[in-house]
Amino acid sequence: MYYYGVVVFSVLFGVSWSDKLLTFPPGFKFGASTSAYQIEGGWNASDKGESIFDRLYHERPDASMDHSNGEIACDSYHQWRRDIDMIAEMGLHVYRFSISWPRLLPTGFNNYISEAGKNYYNNLIDGLLARNIEPLITIFHFDLPQSIQDLGGWANPLIADWFTDYARVVYTLFGDRVKMWITLNEPMAICDGGYGDFLAPKIVDPDVGLYLCSKNVVLAHAKAWRVYDEEFKPKYHGKVSMTNLFFWYEPVSDEDKETTDLMLEYCEGRFSHPIYSKEGGWPKKLQKLITEQGYEQGYWRPRMPEFTEEEIKFIRGTYDFYALNHYTTNLVKKAKPGEKVGAWPFDGQPIIGANFQKGNGWKTAAPSWFYIYPEGLRHQLNWIRENYGDITIFITENGYAGGSTGLRDQERIDSMRDNLEQTWLAIYEDGIDIRGYITWSLMDNFEWIGGYSVKYGLYEVDFNSTERTRTPRESALYYERVVKTGSVFVHSDEDKHIEL
Ligand code: NOJ
Repeated sequence: MYYYGVVVFSVLFGVSWSDKLLTFPPGFKFGASTSAYQIEGGWNASDKGESIFDRLYHERPDASMDHSNGEIACDSYHQWRRDIDMIAEMGLHVYRFSISWPRLLPTGFNNYISEAGKNYYNNLIDGLLARNIEPLITIFHFDLPQSIQDLGGWANPLIADWFTDYARVVYTLFGDRVKMWITLNEPMAICDGGYGDFLAPKIVDPDVGLYLCSKNVVLAHAKAWRVYDEEFKPKYHGKVSMTNLFFWYEPVSDEDKETTDLMLEYCEGRFSHPIYSKEGGWPKKLQKLITEQGYEQGYWRPRMPEFTEEEIKFIRGTYDFYALNHYTTNLVKKAKPGEKVGAWPFDGQPIIGANFQKGNGWKTAAPSWFYIYPEGLRHQLNWIRENYGDITIFITENGYAGGSTGLRDQERIDSMRDNLEQTWLAIYEDGIDIRGYITWSLMDNFEWIGGYSVKYGLYEVDFNSTERTRTPRESALYYERVVKTGSVFVHSDEDKHIEL
């Protein structure tokens, strides 16, 4: 396969034999990802309900850096045919997108299903399948119905049932054609963002709300997974999981190792240990730390609500694969007693007593916190296997945040190539079972706090045009080549000469 790949690639692109070609296993899936609020627009089209982001950005325009919002975004609510064309142009195998809960269930509950919402997602799914593109659906990607928020949102334990009712509607409507599902995207972003100061509903409550949310998202995932497993898997044979995470951590020196392990428990383990570990439940050291800190602050109960024995069993094993979102790595320095700890999530984590820094020689992407260290991806993949065993892994997000407009994006190409190299090494040198790589993002879109000024797109979007015109960047052409050949060249200059 390797030599076959070398010959094909060399003939097609005229590269030298001294270049190193890394060919991915047969059947390895390449894809791109987006999410509803970030691309759809049509915020009040037809009977769509209000989401927590509609409310947040209307009430507080300054909640995004450029005072923008997702009212129109990429207008994919109308431009979805063009989205499919783009995915087909690159020859991608998979398109990961999310369903807007308030678009499908305008009241937030399953008493009423929107015809318009149903038609929109049916058209998208059928359009993808007609072009031989596999839909991978994220059931929840942050945009909670405001009606559910008004009843307490992720802090209300009943949300696990409400989310499961919504998931059951989604499986019922689309399960005949969709075989890959993500229940919830990045629970850490949902809880630390929503009960921190950067994502809706922006209820700043790091002591209590954050941990109620942490427990309820895990339970919601587990219930929705079990419903699929019992009611839908026997006829549809699909797979369901939840995505984690975003940040990877390594110690500055040996004395920072324990703090680094705690950071990994906080970010990765909090939402993985209950599901993927043999014993289930919260990661022990983290639970102890958070509980003791709470007692010191005068709380009488553990701040992170405990799981009952029954819940531990119910949650454990609710996965079909591991879905990893990976972007960046931070070096961790243990804070000395009394030392100021930087703000979470970019500079430090006060609960853990960790400050973050950049490694020597690491570059940064457009946002100053986005350090570039592709090796971190391979280390993270190994950490998952060491902690949870030989699980099938899909990389469900990985991308590069640019800051300027324009079609020449060599940094994004470099980042993709280097991350794919690390993925390849994890497969072939470390023997990890990785089945796919899905990049973020298909096109520039509404990057939450970053508004439209942070750009992740393989396709540039002209946000000043009514059609939201999409144009391929060099990285889109590069990715097309990678997908066609199933291979990447590394340690060579061949990818520096792509003609648009
Ligand atoms: C994480 C989220 O899933 C997505 O919504 C976000 O835009 C990207 N990563 C980039 O920050």
